[in-house]
Amino acid sequence: MRYAIEKMTLADLPRITEIEKLAYPTSQWPTSAYRRELQENTWAHYIVVRDTTIAARYQQQAQVNELPRRGFPFGFRQPSPVASEAHLRSIVGYAGLWLMVDEAHVTTIATHPAVRRRGLGELLLVALIDIGYEIGARWMTLEVRVSNEPAKALYHKYGFKIVSTRPRYYSDNNEDAYIMWTDEITLPDYRQMFADHKAQLLARLAQDAPVPG
Ligand SMILES: CC(C)(COP(=O)(O)OP(=O)(O)OC[C@H]1O[C@@H](n2cnc3c(N)ncnc32)[C@H](O)[C@@H]1OP(=O)(O)O)[C@@H](O)C(=O)NCCC(=O)NCCS
Repeated sequence: MRYAIEKMTLADLPRITEIEKLAYPTSQWPTSAYRRELQENTWAHYIVVRDTTIAARYQQQAQVNELPRRGFPFGFRQPSPVASEAHLRSIVGYAGLWLMVDEAHVTTIATHPAVRRRGLGELLLVALIDIGYEIGARWMTLEVRVSNEPAKALYHKYGFKIVSTRPRYYSDNNEDAYIMWTDEITLPDYRQMFADHKAQLLARLAQDAPVPG
């Protein structure tokens, strides 16, 4: 498939910060918060989604630019700045959760504005729910701005329901948050709904042609 889900690493943080600024213009997490999450929070699970065609294009470019440069010491190729740029640029979204006992709390989910409405936010949510299954979660929960229609629609699609409101939860504009919960994700009905949506999504993404180089 063109898109790959991977664990977030410290090396990814410059790109995460870049997308964070675009995705949450008024209320970003600083890079240090993500660093802490990755290094210190044993309950946290963070992932990125990569567009592998972006990495491939940058790699090709890097090879063209570098030939026939000789590395030092002899025979040793320095890591290419273009190649590592490729690794960063190929990240087009990210997401995370914390496991609290048997509840998986989604902390963030964001895609780069240039790749919205292609199923990648959904792919990230599917990957988080899969992680939820792996780590023994029975429920998924999250907070969302009451005005965030795209996110609410995405969560609704995966069975999240509004159960209560946290007044003035967001300090940048005093906006309320809806608290959303799924039913137990281990119940047969939820598993079936999840499997159906996931299969449809993967079929859709499989048809997503690579961008010409
Ligand atoms: C929310 C967000 C992650 C969705 O990402 P995306 O890559 O555009 O989402 P997808 O293309 O995978 O869409 C999946 C579903 O979400 C819903 N959705 C996404 N964008 C939507 C929009 N603009 N209007 C209505 N529904 C939308 C739809 O139900 C869609 O399913 P469909 O394709 O069957 O219609 C993205 O808009 C984003 O990064 N927003 C900024 C950060 C943010 O607000 N995160 C949520 C914090 S709680």
